[in-house]
Amino acid sequence: MAKNPFFKDPKTKFKDADKLDKKDAEKQIDQLAEAINHHDYLYYVKNKPAISDRKYDLLYKRLEELEDHYPDLRPEDSPTKRVGAEPVDKLKKVDHTSPMLSLNSALEDDKIKDFIDYVKRHSDKKSIDYVLEPKFDGFSVEVVYEKGEFKYGSTRGNGVTGEDISENLKTIRAIPLRLRKENNPPDFIAVRGEVLMPKDGFQDLNKERIEKGDEPFANPRNAAAGIMRQLDPQKVADKPLDIYFYTIMEMRDGELSKHWKVFKKLPQWGFKTNETNKKCSSFKEISEYHEDILQKRDDLNYDIDGVVIKVNDYNVREELGVRENSPRWAIAWKFPPKKKVTTLVDIVVQVGKSGMLTPVALLEPVDVGGVTVSRASLHNEEMVKEKDVRPGDEVRIQRAGDVIPEVVERVGDHQKKTKKFSMPDKCPSCGTRVEKEGAYYFCPAGLQCRAQLVGRLAHYASREAMNIENLGEKIARHLVETEMVSDLADLYQLSQKDLKKLPGFAEKSSKQLYEDIQESKKAKFDRFLYALGIRHVGRHMAGVLANHFENPDDLRRAGRQDLEKINEVGDEIASSVTHFFQDKKNQKILERLLKSGIEIESTGTRKKTLEGNTFVFTGELKDYTREEAREEVELRGGRATSGVSSKTDFVVVGENPGSKLDDAKKKETEIIDENKFKKLLQS
Ligand code: IVH
Repeated sequence: MAKNPFFKDPKTKFKDADKLDKKDAEKQIDQLAEAINHHDYLYYVKNKPAISDRKYDLLYKRLEELEDHYPDLRPEDSPTKRVGAEPVDKLKKVDHTSPMLSLNSALEDDKIKDFIDYVKRHSDKKSIDYVLEPKFDGFSVEVVYEKGEFKYGSTRGNGVTGEDISENLKTIRAIPLRLRKENNPPDFIAVRGEVLMPKDGFQDLNKERIEKGDEPFANPRNAAAGIMRQLDPQKVADKPLDIYFYTIMEMRDGELSKHWKVFKKLPQWGFKTNETNKKCSSFKEISEYHEDILQKRDDLNYDIDGVVIKVNDYNVREELGVRENSPRWAIAWKFPPKKKVTTLVDIVVQVGKSGMLTPVALLEPVDVGGVTVSRASLHNEEMVKEKDVRPGDEVRIQRAGDVIPEVVERVGDHQKKTKKFSMPDKCPSCGTRVEKEGAYYFCPAGLQCRAQLVGRLAHYASREAMNIENLGEKIARHLVETEMVSDLADLYQLSQKDLKKLPGFAEKSSKQLYEDIQESKKAKFDRFLYALGIRHVGRHMAGVLANHFENPDDLRRAGRQDLEKINEVGDEIASSVTHFFQDKKNQKILERLLKSGIEIESTGTRKKTLEGNTFVFTGELKDYTREEAREEVELRGGRATSGVSSKTDFVVVGENPGSKLDDAKKKETEIIDENKFKKLLQS
């Protein structure tokens, strides 16, 4: 394909898919697929996008539209195939093309000097070149390409056999689905790289998990590993993941004799490599690189834990060989871990916003890698028991993956006569009997538990919930601590005078906040549901529930079975929702909330008037875009598809209809105009 019209600032006004003949559609699909792969490469691999996000989205949508229309024309490596694969029951085993070796590692520079000497002694070359790379702290994978196309990818596993995670890998945009033809990629290539979760993405993901009541990941590596081994690729697709490639494990046709050439070739074929990789030939240079990267470490958006030093020349590598799974031609020079020993003063149990109980270590403050640490997470009861740390003990702590400090281990014996830790039976904040779910404990008191109230209040007021601007965590804490608010409903009892008492609040600001609170009384049901902070009910689930129920009362009356009948609602969600609504105290708070003048506007049409009906649209409608028309149908339980088939019930015809109208006539499907469609929606 010589000139692709979608490469540089593409035109995004398209002919109606109906009006394109199949040949033109095929050409456009191929060009779009090629262009999107190209833009993914520029954006995710080269970090140099050539078009705006908006234009990219338009190209993507157009490709989806055409593929929807002509499913048989969908290319094998279409970018739309990155997502959408079905979940599997189990990950399949696959053998690696060659064993995935490990690295010897060292902390001290003397050991690195020994390594350099060893290499020198065992080679007859006068001078040896090395390639220096960051040692990524992520999840190691192998990816195989045949004839330039992504074939499969796997985890490291035991080094010989790994697990097939192809569908999960494909969702990572920095992984090419097709290698760049213009640079003659090899006929067969197996590459190895490290999947990483960027630090900022990790923070956002954990925030989201905590909001949903899920356990946060301990560090980006655990997050990447956990997510890559998911059984459902859909749950990988929306996660922030990146990759750096660092080795060719096997390549047929074409040969490379130096590692540095690998780093010249890989990017040309579309693989992302790290920009700090460097070639050098002395210990001095190695040491400078190590120092330099250590300095930069905190500013990088991904975790690294050292530098990998590899002999450049493959002939020299051959001479040196491999010992016990680790090559003698490479070594990892690790960074000193950010660990310190300090005294464990006490173990307290903290209650999170969603009611989760977490044991927290209170420590004698200590500096760990430039940060003063006085608290560290102990994750859960099992972990405390396993490490058997008790107040008075000396403990080693570390900033795991550079993020949340954690207790690694006890150093020496117990110092005091203290008992082994166990979780309290009752919530330390409100005294309600706690409940256990797997390894975790929860306080089920929800809205009545004070410890949960600050977070819940801030959540209630947040933009995606009731959108009360200026009511953030700080104000929420103040309101709770001064007992101006003892439950959510109290918020609506506050007068402007009360609000003036808040620190830093004057006439104007208190008036504004008062008005914002009053305004929040008009609430859409899905937002209100989300605002209540019910465990497992995030924004999406709130939308699903609001689609099926009209108001809180409706939902309260629903039994578990009714809830479980809903497509996306599993038993965990059903149980959490019924628990919430059946709780007498929650009922009281809800009642008071509604009495304070909250008007709930239903968001779903709950009556599934179009259930079982399938619609196809052709031509332009006056009052709806395609998307809106589809939404209206789906809200009422119907389906909208792109092609007329024996399953189609109605074909809705607008201005300038396309070939679907002929299809409908041939198949004798019921044809309706926009007016009739509107009536159906209202029925
Ligand atoms: S090369 C023999 N290069 O470190 C060569 N590995 O202990 C083996 N790793 O599981 C791999 N960054 O996940 C290589 N730049 C890098 C690396 C790297 C991180 C990981 C890799 C492997 C472990 C080896």
